[in-house]
Amino acid sequence: MTTRLACHICQNKKLHKFLSLGPIPLANSFLQQDQLSVSEPYYPLDVCYCSNCGLVQLAQVIAPEILFKNYAYLTGTSEPMKAHFAGLAEDIIKKFSPPSGALVIDIGSNDGTLLQNFQRYNMRVLGIEPATNVAKLASLRGTETLNDFFNESLAHKICSEKGQPRIILATNVLAHVADLESLLRGVNRLLASDGVFVIEVPYLVDMLSKVEFDTIYHEHLRYFAVRPLVTLFSKFDMGIADVEHISVHGGSLRVYVQKFIHSLPSSVTELLDLETEAKIDSLETYQKFAEDISRIKEELLSLLKALKNQGAKIAGYGAPAKGNILLNYCQIGMDILDYVTDTTPFKQGRYTPGMHIPVFPESHFHEFPPDYALLLAWNYADEILREEERYRQAGGRFIVPIPRPQIV
Ligand code: TYD
Repeated sequence: MTTRLACHICQNKKLHKFLSLGPIPLANSFLQQDQLSVSEPYYPLDVCYCSNCGLVQLAQVIAPEILFKNYAYLTGTSEPMKAHFAGLAEDIIKKFSPPSGALVIDIGSNDGTLLQNFQRYNMRVLGIEPATNVAKLASLRGTETLNDFFNESLAHKICSEKGQPRIILATNVLAHVADLESLLRGVNRLLASDGVFVIEVPYLVDMLSKVEFDTIYHEHLRYFAVRPLVTLFSKFDMGIADVEHISVHGGSLRVYVQKFIHSLPSSVTELLDLETEAKIDSLETYQKFAEDISRIKEELLSLLKALKNQGAKIAGYGAPAKGNILLNYCQIGMDILDYVTDTTPFKQGRYTPGMHIPVFPESHFHEFPPDYALLLAWNYADEILREEERYRQAGGRFIVPIPRPQIV
């Protein structure tokens, strides 16, 4: 682990630390039974604000090889994400009409779920995925995938072997990459001059307004708003051609970046106005966010303990990385939750990091329905509440932890 002393974008050395969620284990480090007796590594999790460029960022950086060489998360196991990526591919095709056979590159391509949509449009695709287990799965499914970290030198190699792509994608990647500058130099080197770099990142304004504090974990080094993104891309002679505020992952930005763009389109200035209104350039906003987080912990624990005292059975619904932050930060263990359930095969049969709660497939939830389900995967609330209509009809209740713990 290294500690960053300067801003990831503007190198300002005066960062304001406003929140500590650690020490805490890595959010995706699910354990096998024989690992439960061995002590797990805990790391600090400190969050800072740069008053110069506006970037919210972690103070600590864990080595990417530790975080991403073997990865628990598979895009294809989330039906809502499959639908989301099908929509993204369709939007890009409509907006840019790339010719069939054009090259599409996905940085952090996971199991190839997003690229498979472009394959259906007869485009050439290449995934770049550092997690060996996940890259292998994508290749087996017929999506050409390089098992590597994307950086400037890999960009040179791809360019000479495959040519320049019309489309480069990076969904939920810009927050994860330790060497952001090398990534962007690589994108600039690789992208065709009339190409587009499409990114999606969770939106800081949503994180603050909905108190989505559990999306803060070691994999997410940065929490973006439009203002720091404008500064970032301009450093690499690129600019935002268009931006959309979308609902995925609790509220995200989809940003279309192109070379040689130097003016701000109205979609950018509208969001810059929203950011001013949300006071994201005031340190007080971050101090209030930290207070809101403590309040959620207090209220959630008192709600869960009261239900437990009444003899209720409670389980966790979903075992996302964010759920592990919530459970560890609030210290919710097996004295409260009987188990958690998750659709990801890798997580099933394992135990959650830190709190050591067993993870079962969804079938366990239907076999042993609890009185209350703590919705850890709150970003899929609509889909999950719809899916579990029968459980709810039978009297089962969901507890949604943010922005204020609530029984629904
Ligand atoms: P997600 O919120 O996408 O990511 P993160 O790990 O970054 O916080 O993860 C959602 C998790 O919830 C994932 O492990 C799959 C699981 N899940 C279910 O168990 N059931 C469901 O119906 C859905 C939609 C997801």
